[in-house]
Amino acid sequence: MAVPPAVRTNADLERLVETTDAWIVERTGIRERRIASPDESTFTLGRDAAVAALERAGLRGHEIDLVIVATITPEYSFPATASLIQDAIGAPRAGAFDLGAGCTGFVYGLAVARGMIESGLYRSVLLVGSDTLSRVIDWTDRATSVLFGDGAGAVVLQATDQPGGLLSSVLGSDGSGADLLCVPAGGSRRPATEETLRAGQHFLSMNGREVYRFAVNVMVRAAREAADGAGISPSDVDLFIPHQANSRIIRSASQTLGVPEDRVFTNVERYGNTSAGSVPIALCEAIAAGRVTPGDRLVLVGFGAGLTWAGVAMEWTAPVAPTPNALRPAVVSVAKTR
Ligand code: ACO
Repeated sequence: MAVPPAVRTNADLERLVETTDAWIVERTGIRERRIASPDESTFTLGRDAAVAALERAGLRGHEIDLVIVATITPEYSFPATASLIQDAIGAPRAGAFDLGAGCTGFVYGLAVARGMIESGLYRSVLLVGSDTLSRVIDWTDRATSVLFGDGAGAVVLQATDQPGGLLSSVLGSDGSGADLLCVPAGGSRRPATEETLRAGQHFLSMNGREVYRFAVNVMVRAAREAADGAGISPSDVDLFIPHQANSRIIRSASQTLGVPEDRVFTNVERYGNTSAGSVPIALCEAIAAGRVTPGDRLVLVGFGAGLTWAGVAMEWTAPVAPTPNALRPAVVSVAKTR
């Protein structure tokens, strides 16, 4: 994982907008978030996470067949951030593309990588989730500015003959909710003009209440369907790693699923919602904290703009070395045939 060193606390936000630490903590669980400096971007964070993932997996860039970068704040409209990372890690054999599924992007990416490997097309896939939502936030809008932060996480997925690894995945989308969470201008529908800039249409716009309602429902559904697909009950899951958007959403979904609090991983208090970075950062920190051991059954779920949702169930098979000072990802394996 890679996050910017600069911390923005709720007290810092109290100086920017009319809000309070108490409101933010009570409604979201967030206490601080990381904000990219002018030298940092979706590419630099994603590249740093990718390099750490390769190091942890004991692989070199030229051994990677495919680079997928889940992001909604790419370095440029085009070329893809994935191509920049493919070059930066020295992966000349790899194909590369960006995947846009809002905050669900990383979990979507796990499903895509699994399919690519199970089909026999590729052996080693580097999957990065990286976003710098601070670049599209209106810092005078208290309804959105308190929620988001910047960060990236990465994993390497590899073919294996051993059982376990990624067991099931579910993807969902309801495009009728597209306008509930979007950046209205800057795309082909409303290209950048002086007028769109003046109207603040290049900032993230969100209907928080509607997204909240949607989030709880789909987190439960995605977790149930992913667990079902793997033949396990959600209450038997060793660790539930949900998208880190709001601790109330996480609590409500976990309670409905019957997953006890001590089997739910949260770090939203320290990073806010890092979009496509959220689930892989949580996975890295869970590993570093010694909360993932080989044989554990994990369910990862995400939701976000689209609207989209996704879930995966896996049996962890990669070795883990909890090292609190070196927060690094690990290899996720995918059985070649099922
Ligand atoms: N500080 C103080 N007061 C605030 C703030 C703030 N930062 N923001 C809103 N308020 C006020 C509102 O103006 C409102 O006041 P009013 O009652 O006088 O009108 C009051 O607090 C309550 O506002 P609500 O919007 O009803 O607050 P709610 O309890 O719904 O919490 C929140 C808002 C935290 C945004 C919640 O709706 C939420 O988490 N929604 C989901 C958002 C989310 O997860 N988005 C990410 C999706 S992932 C992706 O793809 C990017």
